[in-house]
Amino acid sequence: MHFDVLTLFPAIFAGPLEESILKRAQESGRLSVALHNIRDYATDKHHITDDTPYGGGGGMVMKPGPIFAAAEAALAGESGAPVVLLTPQGRPFTQAIAAELAHHRKILLICGRYEGVDERVRQHLASDEISIGDYVLTGGELAALVIIDAVTRLLPGVLGDPGAACEDSYARNLLEGPHYTRPFEFRGWEAPEVLLSGDHAAVARWRREQALRRTFERRPDLLKQADLTRQDREFLAQLIQIPKS
Ligand code: ADE
Repeated sequence: MHFDVLTLFPAIFAGPLEESILKRAQESGRLSVALHNIRDYATDKHHITDDTPYGGGGGMVMKPGPIFAAAEAALAGESGAPVVLLTPQGRPFTQAIAAELAHHRKILLICGRYEGVDERVRQHLASDEISIGDYVLTGGELAALVIIDAVTRLLPGVLGDPGAACEDSYARNLLEGPHYTRPFEFRGWEAPEVLLSGDHAAVARWRREQALRRTFERRPDLLKQADLTRQDREFLAQLIQIPKS
């Protein structure tokens, strides 16, 4: 997977891309990220990338020219790659969108700044607009990193355990239940006995019920889209009768 990122602040990306799984994914050739500084594509003497809005009002708007030029250089005539504008007005990012993006070979991410970008970037350059949540960031850079991270961990071979990404919270519209490791007793708090029982079916059932309980308590909206068995529904029916244990 190759990401081209258009930004005014390429240095923001250094830390996250140079650690842990994203670093290893690049070393193994599964991920590559090219950072393009939009300022380099401004043709005027001072490399100006923003201007005051037509019609007045406060703030600055990113000019279309440098963004189009940077995108055209990054795409180099290639068509078909998603061109994603990061903006609080975009469609809300989800695990399903991460999975959809993971099927592409190349993705171009445009990080907006200031009050926004000239509308012609949305209309004539972007093929998609994505928001990472209902809050406003100082720019699209952190949102781009979130997308790079969420997509990269879905690429084959990136995670050590190939099943890990399928078991995730949200992959199945269920939150994950609790996890425990040694010591069995920590400060007087014991891990659940069932996890040490060696009874794989009992462990699997316990985990499923914990996931159902956690989703019911914290994100009941997700249950509508979850793939539930009859046994799951019976368990949830009990929870509705006795809301908290
Ligand atoms: N830029 C500013 N806020 C954003 C958000 N919530 N998502 C994506 N891009 C943004």
